[in-house]
Amino acid sequence: MEDSVEVILQHKSCELSRHTEEKPLVTAASGAFLAGVYGLWTLFALPGFRKVPICLKVPYLPSSRTQTQNVMKLLRGRAGCLADLGSGDGRLVFAATAKGFHCTGFEINSILTGYARVKSNWKGIPSSTASFVNQDFWKTDLSKYNNVTVFLAPGVMEVLGRKLEKELPDEARVIACRFPFPDWTPTATEGEGLDQTWAYDMNVIRKLSTQAAMK
Ligand SMILES: C[S@@+](CC[C@H](N)C(=O)[O-])C[C@H]1O[C@@H](n2cnc3c(N)ncnc32)[C@H](O)[C@@H]1O
Repeated sequence: MEDSVEVILQHKSCELSRHTEEKPLVTAASGAFLAGVYGLWTLFALPGFRKVPICLKVPYLPSSRTQTQNVMKLLRGRAGCLADLGSGDGRLVFAATAKGFHCTGFEINSILTGYARVKSNWKGIPSSTASFVNQDFWKTDLSKYNNVTVFLAPGVMEVLGRKLEKELPDEARVIACRFPFPDWTPTATEGEGLDQTWAYDMNVIRKLSTQAAMK
């Protein structure tokens, strides 16, 4: 039995090497294609990454249309300045500017920042309404924003919650996409599954923190 398995494996590996020898062009082309895809991915996903500690790294993944709509539902009735932390290609910023917000997209990846700026110019959006800054949001003072949107990663939400609690004004609302803040109680939520979004009001978060500290 073992012999027959070995014979089959030997036969398969012979077939594979014969296949590679017979079609060197196909093999080279598929190798080049995979290398190209990997190169493109690293080009778009990695610039700026070296500047962030490994535990705070978040890759690029765009919001879906439904997720974007859910964010906008949770921003209904609000106005003022909005910061998107990790703005990617700018889609959340563009959706928010269409609702009258003055937006800043903070993005560590210079290629995505450039792309969002070009798209913004192309859409004719004035820079006073939407600006894209190639900047690490961990090193940015966010105290002037009364609306903040985040689509990041589960591992950074607790640390980010502490930063936002320190810096944001009492009237601020934070919208989290896909990954909720582990220590915060949401005021509202929209959608489900991968498109779920949560709204947190800073005055409520602070009140609950104070109550918890008094117990
Ligand atoms: C999951 S994507 C979300 C993109 C966009 N907000 C959207 O909803 O389509 C997260 C983005 O955050 C960016 N990012 C990660 N860490 C960052 C940091 N410290 N400062 C600024 N941008 C960061 C990544 O480059 C990536 O584009």
